[in-house]
Order: sequence, then C-alpha cells, then structure tokens
Amino acid sequence: MLRLFVASLALAASAAAQPSRANYDESKVPNYQLPELLVTRAGEPVKDSAAWRSRRRPEVFALLESQMFGHAPGRPERMSFELASIDRKALGGKAVRKEVTIDIAGHKLNVLLYLPANARGKTPVFVGLNFNGNHTIHADPGIRLARRWDADKSTGKAIAATAPADTRGTRASRWQLDAIISRGYGLATVYYGDIEPDFDGMLPESVRAQYLKGAAAPAAGEWGAIGAWAWGLSRILDYLETDPDVDSKHIAVMGHSRLGKTALWAGAVDPRWALVISNDSGEGGAAISRRVFGETVADLNRAFPHWFCANYKQYSRRESDMPFDSHMLIALIAPRPVYIASAVEDRWADPKGEFLGAVAASPVWTLYGKKGVDPGPFPEIHHPTGGVVRYHVRAGVHDVTAYDWEQYLNFADEQFGRRQ
Ligand code: GCU
Repeated sequence: MLRLFVASLALAASAAAQPSRANYDESKVPNYQLPELLVTRAGEPVKDSAAWRSRRRPEVFALLESQMFGHAPGRPERMSFELASIDRKALGGKAVRKEVTIDIAGHKLNVLLYLPANARGKTPVFVGLNFNGNHTIHADPGIRLARRWDADKSTGKAIAATAPADTRGTRASRWQLDAIISRGYGLATVYYGDIEPDFDGMLPESVRAQYLKGAAAPAAGEWGAIGAWAWGLSRILDYLETDPDVDSKHIAVMGHSRLGKTALWAGAVDPRWALVISNDSGEGGAAISRRVFGETVADLNRAFPHWFCANYKQYSRRESDMPFDSHMLIALIAPRPVYIASAVEDRWADPKGEFLGAVAASPVWTLYGKKGVDPGPFPEIHHPTGGVVRYHVRAGVHDVTAYDWEQYLNFADEQFGRRQ
C-alpha cells in the first residue's frame, strides 16, 4: 500500500515535470543555426588545437559558466579525508570496500568505494553520484544506510532521515557493480544529497552555503545545484588522488539524467576526469536546446529553479537567442573521451538532440586528429557509433542498464588502452 502510494507520488511528480504541450513531432522542430564553435568572438576561425585551447575554449567555457552552470570555487582549504570502514573481503571476496568521509569544514560527503580484490597495481575507477543513497547501489549489507532527503508527505518539505534497510540494493541494476569489478575497474559513489539536497529552497543545507559570505543567494553568475554536484565530484577526485590503490590518471565520471548534465559540466570544469559519460542527460545536458523537442529550457527553469545559475533564467522560451548550445558544453571535454548515451523511448530527453549535440561537438576532436561522431542518419538501436566521442541509443526507457554499462566498460578499455 505504502509502495503504491509512493509510486503514485513519483508518477505525479514526473507528470508535473513533463507538460503535455511538449513537442514530440520532428516536423515541428524549428529551423535553427547553432552558434559557431570554431570561430572566436572576434570573428577569427579556429584552425588548430592550439588556437582552440588558448583562445576559443576559454571563451566557450566563460559563456557556459556565466550563463548556465555558474562559477564555483576551487578546492577548499579546509578539507580532510577519513577512512570510516574497510572490508577486504566484500562481495564474496571479490572486492575491497571502503567508506571514506570527506569533511569540508564540517560538511560531510560519504564516499563508497569498491576496488577489485585481485588487482595487480593501481585500479582505474568510475565515479558517479547516486540518487537514493550509497546502500541502494548494491545489496551488500556492509554498506552504511544513507541519511537521505525525502519530501515530507504532509508538508512537501525536504527532511533528512536514515533510509530503511529494505531499500538496500534497490538501484543495483543502474550500477552493475559486479560487472565493473570483474572487468578490473573500481566504482566510487556519493549520494548527491550529501552535497546538496535536490529541492528548491535548500541552499542552507548545501555545501554552497559555506561560500555565501552573508549573501542570501549566490550571485547571478554563481553556481547552482548542478555546479555544486560537479564540484563535489571533484572533491571525490581529490580523495581518490590520495588513495594508493587507485590509478588516478584513469578516472571516469559517469552520470544519469540530471546527474548526466552534472557529469558533462564536471568534465568541462576539471581536466582530471580522464573520460566522461552522459547517460540520458537530455535538456541542459547533451541535447541541442534549439530543437525545442521534449523538455525545454523553460521547463527546466520552472521545475528545477535551483539547478542552474540565475542568469540561465533569461533563456526560457528564447533558445534561438542563446549564445551557446549543448555542442559547446560537450566540446569543452575535448580531447578527452566522452560517451553520450540515449534511450529510444526517453523522448523527454530528446535522443536525436543528444546525438546531434555529439555530432556538432566533434569538429574540436578533429582538430586534435581524433575521431568524433560523424553526421549522418540517426544510428540504429544498439549500434554504438563514433570514435573518441561515442554515441549509442538503446531500446527502452529513461534508465541506466546492463547494456549501457557494457558499452561504457568497452569504451574505457579501448580509451585507457586496456585489453578487450
Ligand atoms: C526530470 C527532468 C530532467 C532530468 C530528469 C532526471 O525528468 O525534467 O531534466 O534529467 O528529471 O534527472 O531524472
């Protein structure tokens, strides 16, 4: 009964976020012209990787930073790492499980890290934030139950409580931990609510509160929640760089949906991410906004006013006036490898728009002599396409599946020069 109630609440929430007036008709996609990626503001063409790196990339970064995700501070001065638990015989002896607390001047992020027990040498790691608490990514009873934020049923306000034990492993299919470990990779995750609860009006509970210096809110070009989540991902990297079992030169960031938007921005901000994966990131992520297909900028600003910086609000219903689009966000990751994935039934996230984002970003990889995603017909289901920029669309709905992870593991093997 309770589960039914919770399920119907979730349905109501997603229906509210997906207005019926959304366009799903390809013939109604407006004609649009993307802002030039390879022309500087002064009108000079960008002809090589040096010009991209030194002249055009800083311009593109400044645009996305000031107009969309907001500026975030650097590495905090007051930060410490503490090993909270370790089990060298986790997952039936196949893995080492560590729980590490990152303490940022009293604000705590709880890292759950698994590494293959049989590793010879340092291990490459996938890092991703999770939606529901660390204990939901696997049924392993040794994972501490997360304290997480949920909407109070009567007031709708976010309240923190320790998650019930029967929620262990409820999101395991999205993480494929056993496959990751058996392929020789580690996995590190943090509950995204540890960094900032995903509710409008929760700024006091966010790590952003430490940086307000008496102001009521960040300035119009300063970070929103996505900026904070991306910043938190960098703090996980800060820890992983200190872990002697981790190959800190081969750390991938992966995120689904709003956390896919976050992964793309994290990859843009922090060059230490050696590989970036956007799973169903949609509007505000890999999808071209100018297509106005499925979710729109106005939908984002209305339903999730805390995600982006205040300057982004001016672009609601003004996609064609935006001085940027998703191809510029993706391009900021060059020349590192990036994987953009969609699900064919996830029309709200605009799979074709995500593909076109990858295509339009690819010329930057070409400048580095690397292959991106070729323009051409939208690929068939389950046919990954491209080179260092890779794209696939899989069957099914908005989710992360075993199929997605298999491609990410193959891609990491290939890009990190590991055997296949
Ligand atoms: C909503 C939202 C999307 C987001 C998704 C998610 O559907 O409109 O922008 O990607 O939630 O994070 O699951």
